[in-house]
Amino acid sequence: MSVPSGEPYPKPRPVTVTVPAKVNVQLAVGPARADGFHELANVFLAVDLRDEVTASPADHLTLSCAGPGAELVPLDESNLAARAAALLAARKGVRPAVALHIDKRVPVAGGMAGGSADAAGALLACDALWGTGASRAELLDMCAELGSDVPFSLVGGAALGRGRGEVLTELPVGGVFHWVFAVADGGLSTPAVYREFDRLAQEAGQRPPDPKPSHALLTALERGDVGELARTLANDLQPAALSLRPALGETLAAGRAAGALAGLVSGSGPSCAFLARDEEAAAVLAHALRDSGACRDAHVATSPAHGARVLPNR
Ligand code: C5P
Repeated sequence: MSVPSGEPYPKPRPVTVTVPAKVNVQLAVGPARADGFHELANVFLAVDLRDEVTASPADHLTLSCAGPGAELVPLDESNLAARAAALLAARKGVRPAVALHIDKRVPVAGGMAGGSADAAGALLACDALWGTGASRAELLDMCAELGSDVPFSLVGGAALGRGRGEVLTELPVGGVFHWVFAVADGGLSTPAVYREFDRLAQEAGQRPPDPKPSHALLTALERGDVGELARTLANDLQPAALSLRPALGETLAAGRAAGALAGLVSGSGPSCAFLARDEEAAAVLAHALRDSGACRDAHVATSPAHGARVLPNR
């Protein structure tokens, strides 16, 4: 191939990666560890609300973001996607020369791992752009360094997270589940919700038991049994999220009144996740939640969804 003079190498083409949001169908939280993190039994399920992260050639690291709530996304080096690019560059001994762009669809600061998804997406996109050839094990290791939920964003599907949530075992899922996510105005800080969890346990004079996955819930996932999944959904962070944001109680009540099989706070909140019997019930529920005034917006989504993937060139 002939290369035009003055351009020693052809410029690599931009790489776009699609990444899913998640819901925690079980979030069992143990006592705080010496390092401040909490031991978890965290059953993650990826849902098909997805962000896209594009890595384009650039002289240095820049970050931009578009879509609903984009104005709430920090665009400095504190952004987890920017940290992911910098981490990969440092590990592989290359310059972090990339323009990252995030196309947001996952609710921002909603407890749906949007930031973690963008970090996993940035890692995969930069690895492809720079040709750094990171192995799956190296990518997972970098994901865990970036945050407790980031490895799951890479893997997708369904998985049990142990440790602080980063030690994953993939789980079988035997059917499609239909969800509605009610999003609130403003975020909830994950560390603040965990601190409130500790405070509530202390106030009650109780040491949280060691977290264990629910056998009934794992069976419901494996069988694709929506009724049993609705009965076994559980989030130990929910009382803490409700304590910090009592209005979420009204959102949960509105979803149940509108026909949800079950509802719970998603992760550390403030989004609330509702399980619906089928696609039609989910559409009706989303409509009713929007009309109720108990949330800012409602999104339908199905699960499971695949993890981070490079999209073919468009
Ligand atoms: O791992 P990540 O950076 O996403 O965690 C954000 C915060 O959430 C931590 O700093 C900690 O306060 C809290 N956390 C926790 N236990 C976990 C995961 C997160 O206490 N297993």
